[in-house]
This record gives sequence, structure tokens and C-alpha cells, in this order.
Amino acid sequence: MLTFDHVSFQYETDREAMFRDLSFRVEEGEFVSIIGASGSGKTTIFRLINHFLIPDGGRILVRDRDVAEGAVSVGYMPQQDMLFPWRTAARNVMLPMQVHGVPKDRQKKEASALLERVGLGGMDDRKPAELSGGMRQRVAFARTLATGSDLLLLDEPFSALDSITRISMQEWLREQWRTLGKTIVFITHDVEEALFLSGRILVLRGRPATHMDSVTVPAGPDRTREMLLTPEVTDLKNRLIRELREEAGR
Ligand SMILES: Nc1ncnc2c1ncn2[C@@H]1O[C@H](COP(=O)(O)OP(=O)(O)OP(=O)(O)O)[C@@H](O)[C@H]1O
Ligand SMILES: [Mg+2]
Repeated sequence: MLTFDHVSFQYETDREAMFRDLSFRVEEGEFVSIIGASGSGKTTIFRLINHFLIPDGGRILVRDRDVAEGAVSVGYMPQQDMLFPWRTAARNVMLPMQVHGVPKDRQKKEASALLERVGLGGMDDRKPAELSGGMRQRVAFARTLATGSDLLLLDEPFSALDSITRISMQEWLREQWRTLGKTIVFITHDVEEALFLSGRILVLRGRPATHMDSVTVPAGPDRTREMLLTPEVTDLKNRLIRELREEAGR
């Protein structure tokens, strides 16, 4: 579904390259988290996939099409929910459809259905300020689905939520993933969040980063929070936290 093929990238204002010859793949239908310390380049990976930034070398493929060709659609949920405060929930969700020129009456219907899908049925006319933080994240997720893309890129979507809402949203997102059949790449610096959500975790370290360790989460698809308590997962958690802390202290 997603391939980084020897990608190199450096911000013009930086003295060091961010990525050199970085390669990784995400398969169709996977839920993969990318973890890394703050500033390690996680969001930069998404900007490259979206073609907001252009690699200095290598290729990025979505379903075997080079994103440089411009015709590749991905669903991107940025780090801040970025809802337009003056637009209602439904009109926020309609945005990607407007961009794609979907007829107006269909936009409205599909936005309603998507809001229903994320558990916000009947909230079409609410403004973002009239919704809770968790609800706003669901609107932003619905808007990401409205792109129609099978590849969803979610950049720390729950980092601003309180811990209880966050746990509910994590369970909610896993359920969405199970029922939607989409491929999700999820950025977080929360190791527990990555362990609960994903089948596989990619660890972004080093400057320039030349590869990402891929760690399979030792838990099946039917998981509960309790599975995070097994010795195997606890060891993995401690190891990942240690690695990220070493990285942050460099
Ligand atoms: N537009 C830019 N121009 C120059 N440097 C940038 C730009 N955007 C980000 N950077 C630098 O690139 C590095 C990586 O940024 P990035 O946003 O990808 O990190 P991140 O891993 O997403 O961090 P966080 O967890 O804090 O969101 C940072 O050190 C930052 O200073
Ligand atoms: Mg970021």
C-alpha cells in the first residue's frame, strides 16, 4: 500500500539531512504506528507522502504509483484537528468532496452518513465549538474518510485529549479500522498507544535516519487493554521507551 524506496530528504534550513536512503513498506490493511521522539521527523514523513515536500532522492509509492505523479489520494489527518470553526460539522466533512467536485446534494448525504458512522449522527449542524474534544477528533476523522482514500495517515490525533477520552478514542479507532478495512499509518510518541492500536510499530531514530526498526506487537487482532499487561508486551514497552529516551537525550 505504501512504499518508501531509498528516500532522502533535508530541510533547506537544516544542516543535517533528516532521512538518508530510508526504506520501509506498509502492506494493504495493516495498522502501523510510527513512533519517535519529538523532532525526529514523523510529521515530515507524512508531508512527503502528501507531496507537500519533495524528496531529494528516492521514490514514495502508494499502491505502486509514485506520489510525484500527483494523482495519488491519501486521507491525511493533521496534528491539530484543523476544523474550520465557522463551518458546521457536516460542512467540515464535505470539504474533501467539494475539492473533488462531488455534486452538492450527494456531499450533504455522504457527510451525514459519515458523521453517523463515527457516532455523531444528528450533529450535522453543530459548530466545532459546540463539540467536545473527542467529538471534534471524530469529525476530523470523518473528514479524512471523506477523501475516499484507502490509506489513512493520522498524525497524533489523540494527543490533546484527556486520558480517559483518549482510551475510549483508541478503542473506537481500532473498531473503525476493523470494520472499514482501510490501511492506517498512525503517528504517536506514546508507546502504550502504539502497542494497543497497531499490529506493527516502526521506530524512527537517528539523524539522518537511515532505517526504521519494525516491531511486531505480540498480541492478536482481538485485543483488550489487559493484553498490554503480559510480560512479553511489558518488556517490549520498556525497551521501546528506553530507546526513545536515549534518542531524546542525544
Ligand atoms: N518547514 C520546516 N523547515 C525547516 N525545518 C523544519 C520544518 N518543519 C520541521 N522542521 C524540522 O524538522 C524536524 C522534524 O520535524 P517534524 O515535524 O517532522 O517532527 P515530529 O517527529 O513530527 O515531531 P513532534 O513529535 O514534535 O510532532 C524538527 O527538528 C524541525 O525543527
Ligand atoms: Mg509531528
